[in-house]
Amino acid sequence: MKQPIRVAVTGAAGQIGYALLFRIASGQMFGPEQPVILQLIEIPNEKALKALEGVAMELDDCAFPLLSGMVLTSKAEEGFGDANWCLLVGAKPRGPGMERADLLKDNGKIFVAQGQVIDRVAAADARVAVVGNPANTNCMIAASVARRLPADRYTAMVRLDQNRATTQLAKKAKVATTAISDVFIFGNHSPTMFSAFHLAKINGKPATTVIGHHEWLRGEFQETVGKRGAAIIAARGASSAASAANALVDHVRDLTTVGKVHSIAVKSNGDYGFDPNVWAGLPVKTTAPGSYEVIKGLGLDDFAREKIAKTNKELVEERQAVAELLK
Ligand code: NAD
Ligand code: LMR
Repeated sequence: MKQPIRVAVTGAAGQIGYALLFRIASGQMFGPEQPVILQLIEIPNEKALKALEGVAMELDDCAFPLLSGMVLTSKAEEGFGDANWCLLVGAKPRGPGMERADLLKDNGKIFVAQGQVIDRVAAADARVAVVGNPANTNCMIAASVARRLPADRYTAMVRLDQNRATTQLAKKAKVATTAISDVFIFGNHSPTMFSAFHLAKINGKPATTVIGHHEWLRGEFQETVGKRGAAIIAARGASSAASAANALVDHVRDLTTVGKVHSIAVKSNGDYGFDPNVWAGLPVKTTAPGSYEVIKGLGLDDFAREKIAKTNKELVEERQAVAELLK
């Protein structure tokens, strides 16, 4: 048996936490050979900590062979101590009528405080994956306070958008989702994100040729994927949780599987016209467990460039809105 890895999860008693922890403990994130110690972090509030105890009791009751231990805490130092992976889920979700950027001021502060502690106490090989919204900018905030861990360790999740786009393309083409590949998400996890249909493939052929309906690809398809979070809030009365947890499982699993090609939000270095220093969804290839390279040189047409300029503008504006939090 391998040595256990330590996985810190914030917001562990929340909606996403409840859909996520059982999948990590069952081996779906790090594989069937990798034991884990879950370090579960909640706010210092009686109700939240009581709920966390209940979740831990349920995890115990699953008798997962890979679950080597659990730490339940409201102290960031303890929760992130020696963590190999820090999954930053804990933050306020938006309600009906709000945009994700409306969460910036409240949630941004969480990522300054947690970013500083992670940089101080997490393992030398620590990786950070941000889910709490607005995920790209929160990730940038956490990375900006780091002095020890390099910026490329900090990724934010656009995988839910990738998965949503995959299913919409599969439905339109009347094929299984397994027929869809090369679905890349550029930019912000927000309605401005660009789902690059011109690069997507269906059974190895260009999606544009197979679907042929360019107006749909440029219009309804982008809109459905970009506004799916709001549609779920309107229908469920609460923000997506199981699909978000599933996307994080996919994000980390693909980021630890060498050769995988997928989309994650990472620090831009100017590729594809993004402003350097924003965290933008980009196509990457996993080069070693937890490491990746941005796939360069994919063709962009005028439509793609225009969409990327718009989502980049939003990321730059979010960055300006939290300028006082950046160190
Ligand atoms: P939730 O309200 O059900 O749970 C959030 C939990 O985080 C709560 O239990 C709360 O006590 C805890 N929390 C708050 N601040 C914390 C802190 N500083 N430290 C530790 N825990 C803290 O919300 P949820 O539905 O689980 O969503 C969590 C976040 O994920 C929201 O910001 C939501 O918008 C975001 N989200 C992102 C995506 C994505 O694709 N990036 C998808 C869905 C939801
Ligand atoms: C989503 O995309 O479902 C989440 O980011 C939640 C939200 O606020 O839309």
